[in-house]
Amino acid sequence: MCGIIGYIGKKDIAPILFQGLKRLEYRGYDSAGIATLASGFHIKKDVGKVDEIHQRLNFLDAPGTLGIAHTRWATHGGVTKENAHPHVDCEENIAVVHNGIIENYQELKRNLISLGHKFKSQTDTEVIPHLIEEMMKKGKNFTDATASALKSLEGSYAVLILNKNERKLFAARKGSPLVLGISDSGYFAASDIPAFLEYTKNVVYLHDYDLAVLTDNGIKVFNLMENREVERKVDTVNWDIRQAEKGEFDHFMLKEISEQVDTIQRASQQNKELINHVVEEMKNAHGIFLVGAGSSYHACVAASYIMSKVSKLHVNVVLASEFPYYEHYLTDKTLVIAVSQSGETADVLEAVKSAKAKKSKVISLVNVVGSSLTRTSDVFLNINAGPEICVLSTKTYTSQLALFILLSYALVNKYEEGKKKLTRLWNEIYHLTSATTRTKIKELAEKLRDKEHIFLIGRGLQYATAMEAALKIKEVSYIHAEAFAGGELKHGTIALIEDGTPCIVFVSEENEKEILSNAIEIKSRGGYIIGVSPKNNEIFDFWIKVPESNNENPIVQIIPIQILAYQLAVLRGLDPDHPRNLAKSVTVK
Ligand code: G6P
Repeated sequence: MCGIIGYIGKKDIAPILFQGLKRLEYRGYDSAGIATLASGFHIKKDVGKVDEIHQRLNFLDAPGTLGIAHTRWATHGGVTKENAHPHVDCEENIAVVHNGIIENYQELKRNLISLGHKFKSQTDTEVIPHLIEEMMKKGKNFTDATASALKSLEGSYAVLILNKNERKLFAARKGSPLVLGISDSGYFAASDIPAFLEYTKNVVYLHDYDLAVLTDNGIKVFNLMENREVERKVDTVNWDIRQAEKGEFDHFMLKEISEQVDTIQRASQQNKELINHVVEEMKNAHGIFLVGAGSSYHACVAASYIMSKVSKLHVNVVLASEFPYYEHYLTDKTLVIAVSQSGETADVLEAVKSAKAKKSKVISLVNVVGSSLTRTSDVFLNINAGPEICVLSTKTYTSQLALFILLSYALVNKYEEGKKKLTRLWNEIYHLTSATTRTKIKELAEKLRDKEHIFLIGRGLQYATAMEAALKIKEVSYIHAEAFAGGELKHGTIALIEDGTPCIVFVSEENEKEILSNAIEIKSRGGYIIGVSPKNNEIFDFWIKVPESNNENPIVQIIPIQILAYQLAVLRGLDPDHPRNLAKSVTVK
């Protein structure tokens, strides 16, 4: 969705906001803007990527040591300069950046217009500075006016607010992520930690309805529901700033694909007691749902096959956005396992809310500790993949799989065996992410770059891989890619195969014969067959060699296709880190 960052302290504000915007750009990249305070506001905003706007407006000459910034992923109002944040009130005394959606903004706006307020944008956000202005007109001070304004908002928000006449930064949240950073030279507030990680690893996670007041002397947090000052503990994160930088790589996507050699190992280093606790909950549950969106959903699909095979455990897999329709099944004995890299996906949080309403237990698999999901779950497991900056999930997807594999083995008292299997993948992943593999896959990308459609088939676990692989290709190269279960092909889809239609076939020992016979059906209708398989076969027009890894196949088989999707994007002149219309973390329903 959108990204926000603010700072108050001793340092020059301009480089902090400029770097912060670049680090937050993965959350939204259609427009950006900043407001700094130094004898009045200095506001710069426009449409485009952060660097493009910087070329035009020079973010780095903004004065002062206090300011806020925003990268936008448009929801309300088109991509225009007027709709870019920050937004201000009529007198330009209050400046606001916002992530989330104010659901009652139309009603608030109508009321404010009737009171004489003049709006310049079509956004929902603009009601916030006007509301504060209105409350201050009625005699409230800045803090009380802000608290009242926030209380009147329905929907979700993470906001940063400045007042031209006070050296303070307000940071408040409800339903959208916001974290504070504490350093010797000042205080930060941002949508996520990488935005300020180069300055501090000491963070405070805000709760819903918290309003934090940041000054040069420290932070005070008030909770608007409890109507009192509250204590929020300071955590230290183990993330490293290098994890949030591209280093020698051209794009975060390729860097994060390459990191899988380590992230799979990290995901498998879990607290055994916690795993045993989760296993007990799973064994005792009457009905288990695995819930996620996008790639996280595909990890759930793969997990359902692994759990069926390894643990003989029945689980229901449901898309987060569809989950509320299953609420009739939920009881206090149901277990919901919610999977989300960001821990902020609105559909997932909504699913958890409906589970909680029925008193079901919620366990989550997340990458961002301190996210809304970790706070609303009864228990969470950290996939520990480090910050993922590219919009596409790569390393976090395989880390989710690793954790599910570990759980599946732990369910049948084979935790150590599961761990060993994951440890042994190191060599395989090292090879699969090497320059040799990348060169080979580039050859294939050259052949596919101008295709309009790519089909992908697999059976069992490989079907889950086909779904995730299709998503990767679509998201980043904009080539239409569609996954099918091998056996389904003849029930309709085969009609789409023409001369030269590329079809990626995921093969495992387990169902080699069946899937190859599906591949032959495609080949005999002119299809171009790409085999992702441990063994070559005469029907393959192109062979991508992957080791046979049984239950770990989803990890090793997706990696070459992540690389293929990346190469396709680069060859087609697209930016793999920022695909059009997509946001890393979708915090609206
Ligand atoms: C967005 C991203 C996807 C991601 C999905 C779920 O749609 O573009 O890459 O898989 O959200 O995100 P989550 O953070 O819940 O795993």
